[in-house]
Formats: sequence, C-alpha cells, structure tokens
Amino acid sequence: RVLDADGLVALPGFVDLHTHLREPGREDTETIATGSAAAALGGYTAVFAMANTDPVADNAVVVEHVWRRGREVGLVDVHPVGAVTVGLKGEKLAELGTMAASKAGVRVFSDDGLCVADPLIMRRALEYTRSLDAVIAQHAEEPRLTVGAQAHEGERAARLGLAGWPAAAEESIVARDCLLAKQVDARLHVCHVSTSGTVDVLRWAKARGTKVSAEVTPHHLLLTDERLEGYDPVNKVNPPLRTESDVQVLREALAEGVLDCVATDHAPHAVQDKDCEWSAARPGMLGLQTALSIVVKTLVRPGLLDWRGVARVMSERPAEIAGLPDQGRPLAVGEPATLVLVDPRAHWVVRGAELASISGNTPFEGMELPAVVHTTMLRGRVTVTEGKVQS
Ligand code: DOR
Ligand code: ZN
Ligand code: ZN
Repeated sequence: RVLDADGLVALPGFVDLHTHLREPGREDTETIATGSAAAALGGYTAVFAMANTDPVADNAVVVEHVWRRGREVGLVDVHPVGAVTVGLKGEKLAELGTMAASKAGVRVFSDDGLCVADPLIMRRALEYTRSLDAVIAQHAEEPRLTVGAQAHEGERAARLGLAGWPAAAEESIVARDCLLAKQVDARLHVCHVSTSGTVDVLRWAKARGTKVSAEVTPHHLLLTDERLEGYDPVNKVNPPLRTESDVQVLREALAEGVLDCVATDHAPHAVQDKDCEWSAARPGMLGLQTALSIVVKTLVRPGLLDWRGVARVMSERPAEIAGLPDQGRPLAVGEPATLVLVDPRAHWVVRGAELASISGNTPFEGMELPAVVHTTMLRGRVTVTEGKVQS
C-alpha cells in the first residue's frame, strides 16, 4: 500500500483519558468495537474506558474483560479505568491493588459519573494510589450543591426555570482534593474542568508543587449555556456548559499549560434518553470523532496553539499522565509507528447518523468543522485511512 502524505500533518496518535464505552451493560448505546472505531476515526490510538459500566469496573474480572475485548477489536489500545469505590457508591474502596496487578494493569482510577465526595475515602484512595504509582481522576462535583441541578447556575438557567449547578460545586472539590493530594504526596487528575475558578485553583495548586493535572473537554472549549435556549437535551452534560468568559479562560489555560490536556468525556446515550424533556434527559455527548476538529477550531485557528501544541494536549501529556511509555512521543529508530496524519486544510460537516458510534448525540450536528483525520496507525498497522476503518 502506498500512502501519500503530501500536505498532511503527522502527530503522535491521540490518547483520550476519558471515554465512556458502555460495555458491559449498555451495548445498545456503544460497544468496545463501535467506540474503538469512533476513536480510530478521530485519530486516537489509546482510550481510557471509564468505570461506570453495568456491572461497574470495580474488580479484576470486569477490567480484564474490557481489556481483553479491546485487544480483540485491536483498533486502539483500550485501557480500563478502575472504579475507586465499590459500585461507585463512595462508601468502601474497591480493590485497587488487584486491578493494578491484573492483566489490565490499571493505572487510572475514577468514579466518574459520580464524585468521590467523602474526604476520608478520597484521602485513603490517594494514599493507596500513591503506593501503586497510579492516579485518581476525579469527577469534581460536590453532590450536596448539585441536588436536582439541570444547568449552569446563572441568569440564563434562572430565566428558563432550570435548577442551577453552581461553579463552586466543582471548585470546592478541586481545592479540597489538591490539598489532600499535596498532603499525602499523591497524584491527582481533575476531569473535565469547566469553570474559570477551577483554573485559578489549579494555578495555585501547581505553584505550590501539587502533583495535579487537569483535562478540558472539546465541548467546554466551544459551547456555552446559550445552548440552553430551545431546551434541546443534546446540550445537557455534566459538568454543564458554562459562560462565554469561562470558555475563553479554558482556552487560554490549555494553551498556557495550566490545563494539561484535552479529554473527550465521550458519552453515548440512547435516543429515548435524549429525545425527551430536559429534566429527564441523561447528561453527556459524543466526542471522539469531533475532538481534533474542535481543538483546531477553538485553539489552532485563533492562534492560541500550533501543531506542536496539539501534539502536547492530545497525545504527549495524556500519555504522561496515564503512564503510557509507548505513546505520545517521537518514534525511536526502527519502531513501528503509532501516529495520526491530519489534513489541516480539509473541512467536514458533522452528521450524528454517520458517526461510528451507535448513538448519535453530538452537539455539533450540522456544523462545518476544520481539519480531517486522514490516517491513523497503531504500531505500524493502518486502522483508519481516508475516513474508513481498516479491519
Ligand atoms: O455528562 C456526563 N456523562 N458526565 C459524566 O460525568 C458521566 C457521563 C456519562 O457516563 O454519561
Ligand atoms: Zn464526569
Ligand atoms: Zn465522564
């Protein structure tokens, strides 16, 4: 096969620290096979599959199942994330050591979907993961401040009659966890940062030597709570879409490095869970196939990030945070390539029905976006070329 890369940009394969693949349990919305295809089409060569499946990935049996299925599909490296607490209930630590020692070699733990809210459990989890050289990825949401919350707390939600999700619900947990992580010298990763106040907290924590990293989603880099008008539940997500000024601060913080990387929070949902009343809809949106284009639109085109920076936020930093030695870095001589070739001049129009995911809940429906993934290669094997999965 001859591969013509004239005019294309070569980057290390993308690494997504935050993907919901829904298998086991909700294979009607996504499977490891369909999610892997979406990832490869988006330029990814590794994804971290979140633990809020059914059953929850809180033990070696489930994480090994996800790991094995990912290998069978073979399009991207699927790394299972282990739950921090049994059943995501927040009461009792899961067997983190057993999951770390399993075939899946779990190095990232998270109760994402829910927050590890109890400070004592969180502190013990941080101590435990420090001993495993692992990292906790925290969905930062103080649950007592978000009871019934439906949208970003502010003037718009109030006018539309939607109960508010205050910025402080996120910021207070991030501040607390940074203090705990510093105290026990553990690593903390903050999921989907959505407010400018969280950026302030991270800046402060990093300046005092906290081992903290943070991700931002493509949707929080582009969309605002203006999307609440019309009540289309495709725009419902946790944490919620925030304000124009939050979006601007998130973009600048990512360019500066206060935010380390982009992670999709790819969250497929069934039609009946989105095509309903706002209050009944599930939070979450697709992200794997649109992430690169949103980064180009929000950061590269406005001149905040160059292609070197794209490699940093989509690949190098996430690989470092998760401890992947063989991704997100330049190739050694003779090493099979794990890379993505991007056409920076091409455009495409997003159609949810045409994405590889089983679900179609993209908030970018009908948008014309810049940059197209031309080829994705995993250890020398072409997984995607010219928009098609090579199985
Ligand atoms: O919007 C979200 N969807 N946020 C989460 O934390 C969980 C996710 C999901 O699992 O659907
Ligand atoms: Zn989350
Ligand atoms: Zn998530």
